[in-house]
Amino acid sequence: MSSVTTDHAPLAELDEWDDFVATRYKQGKAEEEFRNYRADANPTVTEFYRLNHANQTLDFILKKKAEFASLARGEKSIWEMADYLNTLVDDSDPDTDVTQIEHLLQTSEAIRKDGHPRWFVLAGFVHDLGKVLCLYGEPQWAVVGDTFPAGCAYSDQIVFPEFFAANPDSKVPEYQTKYGIYSPNCGLDNIHLSWGHDEYIYTVTKNYLPEPAQYMLRYHSFYPAHKHGAYRHLMNDHDEKMFEWVRKFNPYDLYSKGLERPNVKEIMPYYQDLVAEFFPAKIAW
Ligand SMILES: [Fe+2]
Ligand SMILES: [Fe+2]
Repeated sequence: MSSVTTDHAPLAELDEWDDFVATRYKQGKAEEEFRNYRADANPTVTEFYRLNHANQTLDFILKKKAEFASLARGEKSIWEMADYLNTLVDDSDPDTDVTQIEHLLQTSEAIRKDGHPRWFVLAGFVHDLGKVLCLYGEPQWAVVGDTFPAGCAYSDQIVFPEFFAANPDSKVPEYQTKYGIYSPNCGLDNIHLSWGHDEYIYTVTKNYLPEPAQYMLRYHSFYPAHKHGAYRHLMNDHDEKMFEWVRKFNPYDLYSKGLERPNVKEIMPYYQDLVAEFFPAKIAW
């Protein structure tokens, strides 16, 4: 696989991307201010998007999907995976930065407090476990980032659309029509979104979670669609219905970060039960 640009890691930590998204959609921020998101993007975030948009080609995505579809990395429990993800520590201030597990628990605890079903709480708890891709050695631009379809025209509702000029797919006329290689309302299951932690955690957990949870995991970074209504011409009626759940999930992901740090010891028994209710002792990763 030849990449257009180098695979260096511009972000000091993956959370820099998550923080940028949260700033972009800060509660109460007018929708029109989306256009000004560039002002909130520091140089490393901007560089991250440059790499992401240049390198996420249809060819790359298909290769990654094929590579990870076999789940050939062995078997682990959800807890082993969470511990593994937690080794993704950064050098920033430990007093203000929550760990990866804390972010997951803050998300799921906010969902639980609002009285949502257990599978919804569980979706919150596992939603970012796919970031272990980073620990497998995948570059940041292939782990996080707002996702978008490849193989058809890029929406101007994707952040930094100008960076797609460096993507080889932008020179393939077949990929740059409204529908590209797809057909009208063919359904998102037939669309190849940019590769990252969403698609990976969906692949790993799909057999164990109800469908609305699968949608939450698979499309939680698909901001052009769930926040901006882009790509509806590729979605079918079922996607539309399921996206209500994706939208319901999103605020918990975006806005739970500032909440108090979870008392891990106290809530652990609840999560042990919850995980055991849906998942076998070990699953293939
Ligand atoms: Fe995420
Ligand atoms: Fe998240």
